[in-house]
Order: sequence, then C-alpha cells, then structure tokens
Amino acid sequence: MSISTTPVEALTELEAGAELAELALVIADADKRYYQDDAPTLTDAEYDVLRRRNLAIEARFPQLKRADSPTDQIGARPAERFDKLRHAVPMLSLDNAFTDADAADFVERVRRFLMIDAAEPVVVTAEPKIDGLSCSLRYEAGRLVSAATRGDGAEGENVTANVRTIADVPGILVGDVPEVIEVRGEVYMSHADFAALNARQLAEGKPAFANPRNAAAGSLRQLDAAITRSRPLRFFAYAWGEAPQLPAETQFDVVQAFGRWGFRVNPLMVRCQTIDDLLGHYHHIEALRAGLGYDIDGVVYKVDRLDWQARLGFVSRSPRWAIAHKFPAERATTVLEGIDIQVGRTGAHTPVARLTPVTVGGVVVSNATLHNEDEIRRKDLRIGDTVVIQRAGDVIPQVVGIVADKRPADAVEYVFPQHCACSLQTPLVREATASGEEGAIKRCGGEFACPYQRQEHLKHFVSRKAFDIDGIGDKQIALFFEKGWIKEPADLFTLEARNGEIQLQREEGFGWQSVKNLFDAIRERRNIALERFIFALGIRNVGETTARVLAAGYGGWAAFVEAGQAVAAGDAKARDDMDALDQIGETVIDSVARYFAEAHNLAVLARLTAEVTVLDAEKPKTDTEVAGLTIVFTGSLEKMTRDEAKARAVSLGAKVSGSVSKKTDLVVAGPGAGSKLADAQKHGVKVISEDDWLAMIS
Ligand code: IVH
Repeated sequence: MSISTTPVEALTELEAGAELAELALVIADADKRYYQDDAPTLTDAEYDVLRRRNLAIEARFPQLKRADSPTDQIGARPAERFDKLRHAVPMLSLDNAFTDADAADFVERVRRFLMIDAAEPVVVTAEPKIDGLSCSLRYEAGRLVSAATRGDGAEGENVTANVRTIADVPGILVGDVPEVIEVRGEVYMSHADFAALNARQLAEGKPAFANPRNAAAGSLRQLDAAITRSRPLRFFAYAWGEAPQLPAETQFDVVQAFGRWGFRVNPLMVRCQTIDDLLGHYHHIEALRAGLGYDIDGVVYKVDRLDWQARLGFVSRSPRWAIAHKFPAERATTVLEGIDIQVGRTGAHTPVARLTPVTVGGVVVSNATLHNEDEIRRKDLRIGDTVVIQRAGDVIPQVVGIVADKRPADAVEYVFPQHCACSLQTPLVREATASGEEGAIKRCGGEFACPYQRQEHLKHFVSRKAFDIDGIGDKQIALFFEKGWIKEPADLFTLEARNGEIQLQREEGFGWQSVKNLFDAIRERRNIALERFIFALGIRNVGETTARVLAAGYGGWAAFVEAGQAVAAGDAKARDDMDALDQIGETVIDSVARYFAEAHNLAVLARLTAEVTVLDAEKPKTDTEVAGLTIVFTGSLEKMTRDEAKARAVSLGAKVSGSVSKKTDLVVAGPGAGSKLADAQKHGVKVISEDDWLAMIS
C-alpha cells in the first residue's frame, strides 16, 4: 500500500474520499492477514500509520466517514507495541519427534547420555502439548508481579495487565510458596469460547479468527486489557523459569504443587516407567484429542527427575530432557496453479507451489515448498494437477504427491530455469554436497554481485533475529535497493545523513513521521549484540544458534574477526579452537573461512563497523572454580559421558578445547588417555582425574 504523502490539511474532498476508500480496503486486508492467516503483512508500526492517517482524514471530513470505516474496528488488532521484558531464564522450545521410534530414541538417548544401566527405569512424564502461546508469570512473595510472552525466547512482551484478566491465573498464590518463582505455561482458548468469540466478531462486522491459537494470541496482545478481559482465555501451568527454591524434586511433583498453589494443571499428565507406557499414553491422548474441547498438537515427554534434567542440560534452543511427540500431519487436496522460483540469500533457487487456497488443520494454505528440481520430477508434478498437501505444526506445508486420475489433459510440465533471473543471467549450478555428490539445489554463483542475493542479504540483515530494525522489512529494502540508496549494510546507517538528497518523506508510503521513526529505529541499532551481529552477516551455515555459540566462544567482535581471518589463512590452531566450540564442525568452519578469505567481505565489514558498535557477548560465569579455564577432556570418563562433561564445563564458564596447547589450563584424563596426556606433560599443563574434576565442580 502506498499512502499519499499530501498533508491531510491539503487534501481536497475528492482526494480524501478516494483515500478513505483505499485505506478501508488495505486495512481490511491487513486485518485478514493478521486474523486468518496468522501472517501479518504489515508491521505494527506500518499498520498504525495507516490507521492514524485514516483517523486524521475522517476528523477533517466527518461527512466522508464510510460505513465500513476501519475506525469502528479499533481494538481489532493491537494498536501499538508492548514494552519488552527480558526473561531471567530463557524460554526454550522443544525438539520434535514424529514417530514412535523417534520417541523411543529419545528415552534411549537420555539413558546413554546419563549412562543409566538397563535395569534402572528412566521415568518420563507425558502430557498434552497445548496449542496456544506460552507465557511466563513471575510471582514474588506469592503475588503476580509480571507476565511476559515468549517472544524470541530471550525477551518477550510485557502482558502483565492482560494476564491479570485470565481467571485461571491466580493473582495471589495459596499455601507455602517460595519467595520468587516464575511459573510457565500455555495461554489458550477453548473450542466453545472460540466459536462464541467468532460469532460475536462477525455480528459486530469484525473479521473472524482462523483458529483458537490465533484468537488466543490476538486477544492476549491487546493494548487495552479490557478487551482481553472480554475474551475468555485459559491457562495450563507446566514449567518454570527462575525458581531458586522448588517445591519438589521431580517434574511431576513440581507441577502438582503448582496445582495446589492455585493453577490449573493438565489432568492428562502422567508418569511413565517404560517406553511402552509412554507410547500407550501418547495413543490414549491421541484418541481423546477430538473430544478435549481445546486444541493440542502432540504429547510432551519430560525426564521426571530434576537432578537428571540438570545433568542433561540443553542443546542450542531445546532441553535434552524433553521432546514433543507431534501428532501426524493434517492433509488436504487442492490444485497446483503454478510454480514460482524464490531466490534465497545464498543464490539457491527454490521452487514454490502456488496452490488454490485450501484449509488444512485450521489454516489457509496457498503456497507449499517443492524443495528443488529433482523433487518436482520425482513427484511428476504438472501445472493443473490435483495435489495432496500436508501441514504439521508450524512446519512449511509440503506437497505429498499428485492424485493421478485427476490429471487434466492440458496439464503442463514445468521447466526449471537454467539461468538466474538476475541481470547477470548467471547459469545455475548444482554445488557438490559435503560427500562430493552433486547436490539437488541449483544456485546462482553470482554471490554479492547478483542483485537478488544482495537484496536478500540486506533483508536478512534487517530481519527480526538480526538487526531487527523496526519499520524496515522486505518491501522497504526492495525500494531502497531499487533506488540505489542502499547497496550494502553500512548504507543503512548513512541514510539519515543522505536524506537531504534522498527526501525519503516524499516517497509513497512514507510521511515525515514515519521517516523520523525509521531513522530513530536505525539509530537505536547502532549498538548491537555480538550474536545478532554475527548472525546478520549471513555467513553460509551460520544460523542463529551457531552465531550464538560463536559469540559466546569468542566474547568480542575483535576476537572473532581474528579467529575468522586465521582460519581463512589456514591456521591449524585457530581451526582446532573453533572446532572445540560446542556444535561447531567442519562445515561451519569452512564457511567462516570462505567468508573471511573474501576481500570484498572484509571491505563491507570495515565500512559497517565504522558505523556500528558491536557489544561484547554476555560474560560467561565467573563465580565458579573452573570459570575462565580452558579444559581438555581425554580418555574415557566413567561417571559421565564426554558430552555431558563438556556441557557441564561450559555451563560453569569454562572453555573446552579439543587439543592441548600451552594455553590449556587443565586436562581431565580418564583411562586410555593417549597423545593428549603426552602433550600436557610437554606443555606443563596440570592433569587431573575424573574424580578430582567432579570434586572441583561439585
Ligand atoms: S514444556 C523447556 N510442556 O510448546 C521446555 N511446552 O515447542 C518448556 N507447549 O514454547 C516447554 N504444551 O509453548 C511444554 N505441556 C507442555 C506444552 C508446551 C505446549 C508449547 C510451549 C513451547 C512449545 C515448544
């Protein structure tokens, strides 16, 4: 949408009428995207600009106010943003299991990691996975003091006032409760309440919500708590965040204590002694699913003993001690209308199926990924075919296959392009995979010279998990890029200084206020966390998690650049050190090396770091005996696995390295230790036994 930049005072009545008509359409469409598709096309800020403009025009020309005026739907969508609240303990997500075998594997993995012998049961809880949105509730001295949504896991939205309106959330806890506790759980809406809310919405001429989860999210995220109060939300408690004193020593008992304190806890939560029990309960819950009266999308398993949970720890964003066993995907049939190509940040050309819109499990689907050229051939997809699609949870919908006997006579075979659509017309190539075979993905090798890839890099750079610049999304980047105002990330930060020439406020879709907001938002990001910065660079194979690991491992930008340049130069020691970081392997190291070997990238970085300040990563723990030490584990450990030992050391603020050098502080050696023991002697590094190590960290 492009709104006029003519000041409202200067509009003629004719212009005002036309603009109100367009605004009504555009706002209604934005509402639909928000409510029906759970896929907003406008940021909250953009949406606000439209609504405010609509309001201003109506104020000046009250006689032009339309019957379908968006003004009468105020409160349909949160009007402004909430304050952010940082979670004292991050809110994590869960790894998924899709089959009974995956679920059994989970229990076996736990057993192996903890080295529990076959005779001892690994007790695991099983409970429904509620399809709502998670929320963290902080109680101090038994009183609710704050509530936050999950957000990006580190930081959520402060929804305290709204959560206070939820009947299932006690304002004051009863009984013997700890001084501080953060209770976490799911805010959701029942089927009956959802149906009643939608009937009310429609009666009031407002859009209906697509499913109970969207309705719950939309209702909780209302700036006006009175609206939240009028929407019947519910809450199940199932986890916790900061909790210095817990009421019990097992998952099950802590959750039961929550129940005694006044929370609702799910009655289908049980403890299981064996894998058979666990799967039995999964299928029991699956059978009850349709009659529960609220949406669930799987069963969550959690290791019951909290001391075991602590030993198991986390892998990237999810705990090793829990997993979500999802219900099978929901399917539907529809027609393949066409195939579009999306060019990604790395030049990968991904075919996307354009489908006649169809509802699958409560969500309207009009696109599905087709992965690559081979996939289209393997499934023998032709344009015009009737196809079966499936959607599991939040995963991108997939095309399962065609319904062969419905193929129309005029179905058209799809020809995959040979060249990039970019101005260079670069031939597409298939890269070799890690094992040397020809890969399935076709890429444009133009890299930063390919305008698509440049643009995608820039979009990635401003995206939510990277620089997160409010008011700049894909559309704005496309515009700035096309106009030649922004060619590389540093240009964003000089935009304001160049606005004398650019005159952004004259562009369609921008007024002086939104331009001011935009420059404020850019300025706010001149100080940026190291992990976000590394992620924003768009180095191949360095996603959010890897960026976080690298940031924690190197602590500061200078140290990371030094390491990157050293690996690019083939420095074996630098490579070993990077390899020693948890979850970093050859693929990532090669990508980092390739990135830093490219002079163009170094120049881009130099210009960018002249504009922004990269903040050091949060300091690792310093108050433990092993904090700051570089430790090498070697030989076989007997009381814990090597993975567990490493994870423990890192969580206590130590660095774990794969090789012994003079920088190593400590070698923990078990039986069978070999060359590393000799290296330790050579460098005069202290060697201790596993028992010494355990004593040190206990
Ligand atoms: S436990 C550290 N239990 O699923 C693990 N999560 O995919 C904390 N969810 O963000 C989560 N029902 O919103 C847990 N019984 C349940 C759940 C549940 C729903 C949601 C939760 C979480 C997401 C992870």
